[in-house]
Amino acid sequence: MKMLETNNLSKRFGKFTALDGINLEVSEGEVFGFIGPNGAGKSTTIRILLGILKATSGDAKMFGKDAWSDAVDIHKRIAYVPGDVNLWPNLTGGEVIDLFTTLRGAKITEKREQLIERFDLDPRKKCRAYSKGNRQKVALVSAFSSDADLFILDEPTSGLDPLMEQVFQECVLEAKLAGKSVLLSSHILSEVEKLCDRVGIIRQGKIIESGSLTELRHLTRTNLLVETKERLSDLEDFKGVYDVVEKEEAVTFQVDTEELDHVIRHISKFGILKLESAPPTLEDLFMRHYEKKVENA
Ligand SMILES: Nc1ncnc2c1ncn2[C@@H]1O[C@H](COP(=O)(O)OP(=O)(O)OP(=O)(O)O)[C@@H](O)[C@H]1O
Ligand SMILES: [Mg+2]
Repeated sequence: MKMLETNNLSKRFGKFTALDGINLEVSEGEVFGFIGPNGAGKSTTIRILLGILKATSGDAKMFGKDAWSDAVDIHKRIAYVPGDVNLWPNLTGGEVIDLFTTLRGAKITEKREQLIERFDLDPRKKCRAYSKGNRQKVALVSAFSSDADLFILDEPTSGLDPLMEQVFQECVLEAKLAGKSVLLSSHILSEVEKLCDRVGIIRQGKIIESGSLTELRHLTRTNLLVETKERLSDLEDFKGVYDVVEKEEAVTFQVDTEELDHVIRHISKFGILKLESAPPTLEDLFMRHYEKKVENA
């Protein structure tokens, strides 16, 4: 079942087109990574999903209901964490967590205590005294202690230290194991790689790539390191070979996956002593799209 779906979703602010026909799908039990450079339209998409902004055209649905007109119903089943959490300054963190829970019509459970402990949060402080990271923790504890079916997370770990980033990742994986669905917008590509089943890359209001990480990797290059008996030559002239760098005995370069066979045959003529290959990272893929943008500019 589709937990979240947008069809041809568009949003204009005056003459500026922030979203230009966005199609997204998140299935039940799936963690979907939503990535793209600053200003690409991630938060705008999320604001439409939350019913804060009205789409110019197209539609956005969660649980088969319309994000704008059925917002009240939808909100009972979602939890949202923004990247810049603002809280009521005079309430303590604990009070805010409880307020979110009771607003949702749910009971305060022991999950709350466990999460407060795991995120190492002091719930007795007034919100105005919390650091940025601690405000994020208040929102994360509220979200993960809820029994939401869909988590909408917009750069939820901004300001968290690496230890807390780890706790966050565990919480997402636990939610996934419990059959929950997650839309995770993030600039931390290692986080997306670890957590997400599928990824959508947005740029200038359009989805330019989407699929599972394996599918996306087919579009990308493999990183190779080779050492050969004889000095490797002509590598630069090969189709699909990039970034050739000689490092002492070894040569490192990238190869388009479809040219791999061809290139390995060539290398083997020089007597392979060592061959290391690493799959392309999401970062490589992302940077390539980002570079394209710079070239086109
Ligand atoms: N209320 C608004 N009025 C006018 N333009 C807006 C408004 N909200 C967003 N925009 C513009 O829409 C574009 C998309 O912004 P958005 O906040 O969705 O980007 P983002 O992908 O979330 O970026 P970031 O990674 O920096 O959070 C930007 O160019 C932004 O300036
Ligand atoms: Mg944003």
